[in-house]
Amino acid sequence: MVPRHTYPHLTAQEAAALIPNGALVGFSGFTHAGDAKSVPRALAERAKALHAAGSPFQIRVLTGASTGKSLDGALSEADAVSWRAPFQSSKPMRERINAQKTQFVDMHLSHVPQALSFGFFGKMDVAVIEATDVTPDGRVFLSTSIGATPTFLQCADKVIIEVNRYHAPRMPEMHDIYTLPPPPNRGPIPVYDALQKIGWPYAGVDPRKIVAVVRTDEPDDVAPFDPPTKAHKAIAGHVVRFLLDEMAAGRIPKTFLPCQSGVGNVANAVLSGLGANPDIPPFTMYSEVFQDACLDLMEQGRLVGASTTALTLSPEKLIRIYDNMDFFVPRIVLRPMEIANHPGIIRRLGVISMNTAIEADIYGHVNSTHLLGTQMMNGIGGSGDFTRNAYVSIFMCPSTAKGGRISSIVPMATHVDQNEHSVQVIVTEQGLADLRGLGAMQRAKAIIDKCAHPAYRDYLRDYIERAPMGHIRQDLARCFELHRNFQQTGRMLPDLDLAAFEGGD
Ligand code: COA
Repeated sequence: MVPRHTYPHLTAQEAAALIPNGALVGFSGFTHAGDAKSVPRALAERAKALHAAGSPFQIRVLTGASTGKSLDGALSEADAVSWRAPFQSSKPMRERINAQKTQFVDMHLSHVPQALSFGFFGKMDVAVIEATDVTPDGRVFLSTSIGATPTFLQCADKVIIEVNRYHAPRMPEMHDIYTLPPPPNRGPIPVYDALQKIGWPYAGVDPRKIVAVVRTDEPDDVAPFDPPTKAHKAIAGHVVRFLLDEMAAGRIPKTFLPCQSGVGNVANAVLSGLGANPDIPPFTMYSEVFQDACLDLMEQGRLVGASTTALTLSPEKLIRIYDNMDFFVPRIVLRPMEIANHPGIIRRLGVISMNTAIEADIYGHVNSTHLLGTQMMNGIGGSGDFTRNAYVSIFMCPSTAKGGRISSIVPMATHVDQNEHSVQVIVTEQGLADLRGLGAMQRAKAIIDKCAHPAYRDYLRDYIERAPMGHIRQDLARCFELHRNFQQTGRMLPDLDLAAFEGGD
């Protein structure tokens, strides 16, 4: 029989005082949804006070994915994070990572729960979890994200729960919590369509581990998207036309396939474009994020259902869900990220993946994480989980960045997150390169002709012609010439006239 417990109700400051220097702490939160909020903020204040008094205080931070100002923002500004995994998108955190002040482990998100439960990161000392409720027998009803939280609750020695009254008490009706038994004798995961539920609306925890419950009442820190640029709209147009052609050719069924859409402005714009075209049938998503564009599409009946691990919605959009739970509950399923991003389910459902690149090379290798191969942006997130296992994997980005000073299509990617074996389609505002079935040099021709900005095409063609013969033609003396030019002169092609790029957005 599970014991019934009464939990100590503490202030955020009292709860933060329970977290020791050097602890590995698992915080709830995935792409700024369902983040723990008041305890990390209080912990940051405590760290600052300790540092001012000459005492060390840093923790190791594990989350589902990126978090907002009260977590990554506050803790990194307080110099309180020595180690961070698996994904972040915070400016101060990024600066610390790139200055080698915080060690960052950039991981496929689907790997995180198993890595934690098998001790790859060491023992988890404390979990700090946002919930809508917790019962005396240890049922934890989560809020706007699931992420890796069910595993944190299982693995942590001590648990602090932030019960956030801001969220709709009915949120858990969307939740489907299912954790995997250890290998090697796992059975199939019985998800056979995007909306199928196989688990429970709550995550379980041994109630004896709960050392504090803290009351909060505040929204998630999710910013609205930038309005789509001309380039974003053009990318969306190319993706939609490609998917329509695939349907016409019988390579995508008339009922369509579930879609996954990555994080960021480009992905949000493409999703809107997909929904706006009446020739694309109403579709479902099997994805890890549910962004602003998804809400509009669902209200319009274009998106008929979505499986995700997080509702990453700006507060004004989230309220629309909370005001109309009868409509949204049957249409949205929130799963742990181990299931939302599970390679086997993605392959089984035939997911169309659409993610964003920072740069792609002429052979189809994609860099989504490191500017100039050195400066961490956010991390690989779930893009690898989806790309490697998708039915069709698409990568998108504008053909240039920084007003034309940077070409996103380069001879050799300075860092490779997704390789040529997994990337099937590359799209920029210039056009779309379908790489399926193409040999290396055919891929290069397609990517240069269709995706590179015209101002960079001659350089790229000349690069190939002058490179030594081989299956893949690369000139090891020149392959990073564009990047070196940018570092030295602020432009990849020093003589390029930038006037042509003005007003491009
Ligand atoms: N070199 C240098 N900077 C570049 C660049 C390049 N080749 N390409 C883009 N940038 C800069 C942009 O100028 C912009 O800079 P700013 O913030 O100073 O304006 C920044 O990178 C972001 O570009 P933007 O066009 O706004 O992209 P986005 O919001 O669509 O995000 C990624 C793009 C790649 C950063 C983002 O999608 C990401 O983190 N992806 C990896 C994780 C992932 O895919 N997860 C989803 C799985 S479900």
